[in-house]
This record gives sequence, C-alpha cells and structure tokens, in this order.
Amino acid sequence: MKTLDDRKKEADRIIEKYLPKEEGPDKTLLEAMNYSVRVGGKRLRPILLQSFGLMYGADPKSLEPFMAAIEMIHTYSLIHDDLPAMDNDMLRRGNPTTHAKYGEAMAILAGDGLLNTAFDIMSEASTQALTSDDDPSNSIDNVISALYATNFISHNAGIGGMVGGQSLDVETDKTGRDVTGEELSYIYSHKTSALLIASMMAGAVLGGSEVGDDLNLIGKAGNKIGFAFQVRDDILDIEGDEKVLGKETGQDAKNGKSTFVSIHGIEDSEEIIKDFTEDAKTDIGNLKNVKDEEERLFIMDLFDSLTERNH
Ligand code: IPE
Ligand code: IPE
Ligand code: MG
Ligand code: MG
Ligand code: MG
Repeated sequence: MKTLDDRKKEADRIIEKYLPKEEGPDKTLLEAMNYSVRVGGKRLRPILLQSFGLMYGADPKSLEPFMAAIEMIHTYSLIHDDLPAMDNDMLRRGNPTTHAKYGEAMAILAGDGLLNTAFDIMSEASTQALTSDDDPSNSIDNVISALYATNFISHNAGIGGMVGGQSLDVETDKTGRDVTGEELSYIYSHKTSALLIASMMAGAVLGGSEVGDDLNLIGKAGNKIGFAFQVRDDILDIEGDEKVLGKETGQDAKNGKSTFVSIHGIEDSEEIIKDFTEDAKTDIGNLKNVKDEEERLFIMDLFDSLTERNH
C-alpha cells in the first residue's frame, strides 16, 4: 500500500504533466500560473480524487486529467483568496503569494488562466474518452463518467460551491459582526467542503456507473470532513507555526473574520473536528459498492491524519 507521501509525490508528477509550457507572448502569465502550482501544497484534492477513483476500480490513467484540474482550480482559489481585495496575504505555501511576486493584475489573470485550463483539460478528457477505446459501448460509458466528473467539479467550484462560500465569507468580514450559525455552516460547506466533495465524487464516478446511493453518502462525508478541515485551518491560523504552515498566522483576527473557533473557542473546535471526522469515517465505512477495501482504509487513515495536521 502506498503511503500518503508516495501519493503526494505521484500527484505532483501527474499535475506537472498538465502545466503549460512557459513560452510565447504571454510567458509571464504562464510563469505565474506554474509558480503558484509548483510552489507547494498538500495536494489533498487530487489525492482524494485518486483514492476515491481507485476505491471504485477506476482506470488510474482516467483519473489523471481530473487530478490536475482540481488542483488547478484549488490553486486559483488560493491566488484570488490572497489578493489585497480579499484576505490580503503575502505568504502562501512557504513563498510569496502570487500577487506579491507578480503583481495584482497578473495574479488575477493567473487565477483565471488556471481555472480555464482546468476546464480545457476536463473537456478534452471527455472527448478523448470517446476515441481511446476500441469498444464503442465502453467508450460511451467513459465519456459519460468524464462528463459527470466535470459536472461535479464545475458545480462545486462555482456559485453553488466555492465561489458562493467565498462571497459570503468576504461580505461578512466587512461587517465586523459575528456570523450566525447558519451563515457559518453555509460558508464552510461552500468555500471548503465543496471542492473536497467534488474531488471525492468525481473520483468515485470515474470508477464506474454502479456507484448508486454511495454518491449521497460521499457528499455527506465530504461535507463533514470539509468542515473539520476548515476548523483545523482556523485553529492553525491562531496556534500554527508560520514556518511549517507556510502562511502568515493571525490573519483571521487581523481581517476581523468570525470563524467557528473565534465564536466557540478552541476546546469546542477540537471536539467538533474529532466528532465530524469520526462521522465521515463511518460514512466511508458504510459505502456499499467499494471494489478495493485497502483503498477504503487508506481514505479513513487520510481523514484521521487531517485531524492532527500542522500545515
Ligand atoms: C487551504 O487549503 C484553503 C482552505 C480550504 C482551508 P489547503 O490547506 O489544502 O492548502 P494547500 O493546497 O495545502 O496549500
Ligand atoms: C479559504 O479559506 C478557502 C478558499 C476557498 C480559498 P481561508 O481564507 O481560511 O484559507 P487560507 O487560510 O487563506 O488558506
Ligand atoms: Mg479567505
Ligand atoms: Mg485566506
Ligand atoms: Mg485560513
């Protein structure tokens, strides 16, 4: 069984294959895009996409374009999240943020470039699925799976997901008031859980059309693991070590952001991380159509490792 570190290295290699060549009149844009992706990151979303795909018996090759695409979308979300108009951060993944290094205009464009490249990669994967197999019925199934995966990702990255969550996050920042429980749960499930859910569901659907009710359960598990992940992120913003974390700490307080931690305190936050992670693991344990039991265990261990992460 591969370790999480092996999986991260594999994700890095796969993502690298899809990065644009830094040449031509828009070379600076392409450099800024590649800089933001290459500079680091845990690669959690591509790793989840791959594990869920493998758990349902996907052809590993079919997962690769989607692994690259989801990391590009995530990286774009970070570039824009760090902009002066949003969280105004200068350090990301242990290095200057994209706007700190390339200027604001180029950072906006690098985000736009990554987002659209992700859709280029995913739509090409669908068309290639049609031509890659000699058996026409197989190839139609592959196209349908690729289109479903693209749809999960596009829906959860946009107004029904990450972008929607970010909008309420920045809007409530500015008011300086505590957000309501309902608003907080909207923000976390959209800005953070949505891309994790998309990774998990896209992987699963690429594993085959027999996933059935499992997809609902994956959505529930992803929502809880995303909530726990964001609460840990908020705790790390208070207690984390800047060098290990790779981003400046104390930013949420500086921006007047209400988080689960600022409202409920560290103790309750640690408790909810533990409870939600256990619930998410139970959901994964209850998935019915799993083909690879070792992969199921890998995912449950991965969830556990997220509760104790320090970056
Ligand atoms: C940071 O995501 C943004 C949040 C959703 C909290 P990650 O913690 O996954 O960032 P990287 O990819 O490892 O840099
Ligand atoms: C951002 O949440 C989530 C995104 C969708 C980018 P944060 O603003 O807390 O993420 P960090 O702490 O800057 O990584
Ligand atoms: Mg933010
Ligand atoms: Mg931020
Ligand atoms: Mg944060």
